[in-house]
Amino acid sequence: MPRSFLELFGVTPQAVAQAPGRVNLLGEHTDYNDGFVLPCAIPQTTRVEIAVSPDRLDHFVAEDLGQRVDCEPAGAVPPGFAAYLHGCLRLLRDGGAGIPPVLMKVDSQVPMGSGLSSSAALEVAVLRALRELFRLELDDVRVAQLAQKAEIEYAGVNCGIMDQMASSLADEHHMLFLDTRTLERRLLPLPQGAELLVLDSGVPRRLEESGYNERRRQCEEAARLLGVPALRDVQDPAQLAALPEELERRARHVVTENLRVLEAAQGVDARRFGELMNFSHRSLRDDFEVSIPPLNLLVQLLQGEQEVFGARLTGAGFGGACVALVREGRGAELGELVLARYREKGQLGTLLVPRR
Ligand code: GLA
Repeated sequence: MPRSFLELFGVTPQAVAQAPGRVNLLGEHTDYNDGFVLPCAIPQTTRVEIAVSPDRLDHFVAEDLGQRVDCEPAGAVPPGFAAYLHGCLRLLRDGGAGIPPVLMKVDSQVPMGSGLSSSAALEVAVLRALRELFRLELDDVRVAQLAQKAEIEYAGVNCGIMDQMASSLADEHHMLFLDTRTLERRLLPLPQGAELLVLDSGVPRRLEESGYNERRRQCEEAARLLGVPALRDVQDPAQLAALPEELERRARHVVTENLRVLEAAQGVDARRFGELMNFSHRSLRDDFEVSIPPLNLLVQLLQGEQEVFGARLTGAGFGGACVALVREGRGAELGELVLARYREKGQLGTLLVPRR
């Protein structure tokens, strides 16, 4: 039986906050190129309970992970989930927020390693809990920026701002169209007559071990060779021909993906939106090379269904989940059907959205 905050720490929490994971519909690997993204929040959330610590240490518990960490506020970065908590606290404390040692209990429904931003949900939930308890003057964009900084500096992933902005500002019923350079944004409705289906491939992914940081370096190198501040500044894929072959493919993914997001954000119908998702998957698979065979199989099975408008891998790739746009009201049934076919091929996936 999971223990309550009171059972763990002997006091009741003084504040509680939560934040959702996200699924990205279009605009993958564009955020660290100053480009455009289109994520949605998912129903799964991470919840953080907090109180002031009775001693001079921070105490962090994640019952579902079976982890407890007691650490010095200004000491070494702790391992595992605690690094994110420590990172968020450290950034605020270094910024002069005057936060005393704390007790924090974390519970997450956001699956880890599925490309649904369990870490952003954790960071945003932690910052929201701290904001509430210590009445910090932080708006939702500032929360996302601090969360991203914690991820880069304390978890070692040189990520963009999409996940933290989505967790901090998006909801389940809209897509967040975000310009990651200016942070201009709009909430848009999903195409009419459609809903989202998210399936986990059963192959976990760990960002820091994957080629994520390497892809980012390649994009920066391509921008440098082209003499632009970021790949966002290239609108025509023909301009990429001067690049070495591999960098050309990486850059072509980013440039064409930005065009797909911009088209989708104009309000296309479900059929066209689905097509754009299919093109996105092909580009991630062939040009950006962040897919793996089980993700390709799952996407292919989804795309083969009549009531599926389109499907692609979602998140950084190298494992994790696929997202599909499907006929409204048909998500759960289609999901089970496709998972049964996936199982016949020896792969074990799970239905994540819609939630059963
Ligand atoms: C991860 C990163 C994001 C983004 C995606 C790929 O989720 O945290 O910033 O780069 O990968 O689109």
